Amino acid sequence: MPKIMVDGKLIEAKDRQMILQACNDAGLVLPQYCYHPGLSIPASCRICLVEVEGLPKLVPSCQTPVRDGMVVHTKSSKVIANQKQVMEYLLINHPLDCPVCDQAGECYLQDYSYQYGRSQSRFEEDKVKNPKKDVGDNIYLYADRCIMCTRCVRFTREVSGTSELFVEGRGHKEEIAIFPGKPVNNKLAGNVVDLCPVGALLDKDFLFKQRVWLLKRSASVSPADSGGENIYIEYNEGVVYRIKPRYNADVNQWWISDDTRYSYKPLHSEQRICTARRTEHGAQVESGFEEAYQSAISGLKQVVEQNGAGSLYAMFSPMMACEEAWLLGQAIRSIDPQAMLILGPVPSAGQDEVFKNPANGKQTFVIKAEKVPNSAGVRRVIQMLGGPTATFDDVIANRKSELRSLKGGWIVGGYLSNWAQLNLPALLQSGFRVVQDILPNAIVDRADVVLPSAAWAEKDGCWENFNGRIQAFTAAVPPPGGARREGDVYLKMLGRSGLYNAEMIRKEMGEPFAALALPAEEEHEPAPQFVEL
Ligand code: SF4
Ligand code: FES
Repeated sequence: MPKIMVDGKLIEAKDRQMILQACNDAGLVLPQYCYHPGLSIPASCRICLVEVEGLPKLVPSCQTPVRDGMVVHTKSSKVIANQKQVMEYLLINHPLDCPVCDQAGECYLQDYSYQYGRSQSRFEEDKVKNPKKDVGDNIYLYADRCIMCTRCVRFTREVSGTSELFVEGRGHKEEIAIFPGKPVNNKLAGNVVDLCPVGALLDKDFLFKQRVWLLKRSASVSPADSGGENIYIEYNEGVVYRIKPRYNADVNQWWISDDTRYSYKPLHSEQRICTARRTEHGAQVESGFEEAYQSAISGLKQVVEQNGAGSLYAMFSPMMACEEAWLLGQAIRSIDPQAMLILGPVPSAGQDEVFKNPANGKQTFVIKAEKVPNSAGVRRVIQMLGGPTATFDDVIANRKSELRSLKGGWIVGGYLSNWAQLNLPALLQSGFRVVQDILPNAIVDRADVVLPSAAWAEKDGCWENFNGRIQAFTAAVPPPGGARREGDVYLKMLGRSGLYNAEMIRKEMGEPFAALALPAEEEHEPAPQFVEL
């Protein structure tokens, strides 16, 4: 392992690492625009130049490999003079519109200008002005804020493999552009906004909605598919404003799909179910949550009294956390010890979408075809609970004789889109049905009792992705008034006091859940406050 001396500090680098990578790993701060660990290294922005003893001129630290015994200076007068010059050039045509720029507060240009730039501009001529351009369904390009780092261009070439963006013109006329009629609409397009170190590429969805310093964030996992992409949910005062990637070397690296990026939309849908309902004289009427809950329990008990053990079922959703599934299984069997446990529909869209770097054919990202996050985890929990079980295919085909004895059930939804568009199997159209869900659909409309529930970002838990990786996620915002977290409802059914606590439930579940580590403390905010039912 080569050892290098940086500003008098000895650091150990990895073989074939660049000086900048070694400094980043050692926590030494060096300015960097065009360098990104997930992309090729063009060394074009020149802000990272350092002085290396024995070399005649400054070298780009992002593109200069370490050598054992190398002595590097990052704060010498030559280095500082270069940083000031680079900043002055970059700001020549910059509109200096930080007060109205979405990137303000997380802008490299702003930060480096403060740390490495001059406090005054010597440029008195007219600036080149470039109007805002619409470059994709979700993306605007504010070209006069661009510093030509080419991160966005390299992403579309090397990661999405779609090459929509390119550099047009030369010199001070250089500009990021798209080919006519070919907008940046690939399924990973939002990553170019994350990659842009300044406010040049902005997400239309987030535009002018919040100042970034007001946002808090919680570490979570994508609900959009079974890939388990790691994310941050960014929110303020109970409202989620955006989703950003959370680096995980083994899952999604630095990227997320646009399905994940915009998966928070249903949380604040105007159609969210916020009021409980129960059936009176054959029609649904609005009800207090407690009243509806009591009708649900008495209705289910009546089914068992009239039909005996084995007449109830619970239909689990692949959107549920494993901990919730564990509690629901026990809760339904506290009413009917022979209740059947069924995993509900698992929507899928054709084949996995695989992205490759066209230059070397290497796979860079996969969007899974299965459009729910936890079918594997719920299946595992149902197996752990044992007893009578069936699959949704059994239900559709009416394949098991025990299914014909079912006269009532507890059905959980929580899907991000309308999951009940399929032809409803007979089981879901008859008997006494209690439905917990977040959005209206045909099953909710026909339920005997409707209990509004919490969406994924409103509760803690864990999901198991397609290849068996179990990952914890934390609540960002509380559920809307009138809705209750599923875990709290199941604890009440079990006669247990206290609030649902995912970590505690995981301990009860034993391995492999008990040892699951939460994302590091600094990565999530304290959970929202909930009230006991
Ligand atoms: S638009 Fe952003 S990411 Fe693309 S070259 Fe300009 S500054 Fe870099
Ligand atoms: S970060 Fe090294 S030249 Fe841009």
